[in-house]
Amino acid sequence: MKKVKIGLLFGGRSAEHSVSLLSAKTIWENLDRDRYEMFLIYINRAGDWCLTANSGFNEEELKRENFNSFMPWSSSVTAAVEADIFFPVLHGPNGEDGRIQGLFEMAGKPFVGAGSLSSQLAMDKVAAKMLFAQAGLKQAPYLYFIDNIHEQIAELVEKKLGYPVFVKPSALGSSVGIGKAGDVRELLAAVDHAFSYDNKIIVEKAIAMREIEVSVMGNAEIMVSAPGELLPAKEFYDYADKYLDGRTQFRIPVSLGADIEARVRKTVQRAYRALFLNGFARVDLFLEKGSGEVLVNEINTIPGFTAISMFPKLWQAQGIGFPEMLDRLIAYGFDHFHRRKENVDEGLGR
Ligand SMILES: Nc1ncnc2c1ncn2[C@@H]1O[C@H](COP(=O)(O)OP(=O)(O)OP(=O)(O)O)[C@@H](O)[C@H]1O
Ligand SMILES: [Mg+2]
Repeated sequence: MKKVKIGLLFGGRSAEHSVSLLSAKTIWENLDRDRYEMFLIYINRAGDWCLTANSGFNEEELKRENFNSFMPWSSSVTAAVEADIFFPVLHGPNGEDGRIQGLFEMAGKPFVGAGSLSSQLAMDKVAAKMLFAQAGLKQAPYLYFIDNIHEQIAELVEKKLGYPVFVKPSALGSSVGIGKAGDVRELLAAVDHAFSYDNKIIVEKAIAMREIEVSVMGNAEIMVSAPGELLPAKEFYDYADKYLDGRTQFRIPVSLGADIEARVRKTVQRAYRALFLNGFARVDLFLEKGSGEVLVNEINTIPGFTAISMFPKLWQAQGIGFPEMLDRLIAYGFDHFHRRKENVDEGLGR
């Protein structure tokens, strides 16, 4: 049997560069060598693309950057790397945000995960919230701002939300630029901070909740995992907690009772569809304390893939181990490519 050639992209210009390295390494270790051949494409922090030797995942070699770098746009990705399918394992901006997905679409190459439109929509919290609302999903009450006019923001937040609130840049992720505010002074400081990262920000009512995450994969038909729960060590799940201290505890899977689990499932399916997703994603929810309402928070289209990450662990709990999960994600990538290609060909009247 001819092996499928995978172009694994990792690293990248993002706050999550080092997480991406861990994710890629775990994928590299778990991919079935009888079925796949791998090309490691490391994107360094400066954004250079480097095709590494096919011999192994060598972090020391990566750090020395002792290999040929190439410009993907100079020749097209297709010509530069002989891969049958690309697998971007790049978390956050410049990887999870649809740009690289658009490059593969331009090059006419299959890739694993969400397409460019869905990726962009999932990365932009304001766009995603609008589509979630359109789909009838419940969310934390929020306002968004594109102008940093303090009096206006203070007045609207006071009138429509009250305190405390969370303030977030619209399109960043990994809790970068996020702050919690208990009064107007903290609000305006958090607003200035968020605006230093993005030109669109969200102010959202703080919810007393349990943080629930669910894994999804599929195209026309989707599979939804059982829910998992995050138990942050601190007040909110911030960057340090996520990647540095690692003190957050997980419950995988978590038992929430039949009624809540059914509502979680329905919310997850609708949220995935609302952003026109394909491939896979992790859907993050708030289970409001007291009311028991299931609120959608956000969707991550390239969640962590390390051995301890929620996405693979939720599948594992379902009996789908890491290598089998990868097989499926790759198959969904090819399936989506062929469907899309048929549509494009039809659109051209061929
Ligand atoms: N409205 C809210 N009420 C209570 N806690 C919140 C709220 N919004 C965010 N949080 C807390 O802050 C964390 C980060 O927020 P959020 O997930 O929206 O940002 P992010 O930067 O996109 O994170 P990610 O790395 O998951 O992409 C959440 O996991 C949660 O702990
Ligand atoms: Mg989050």
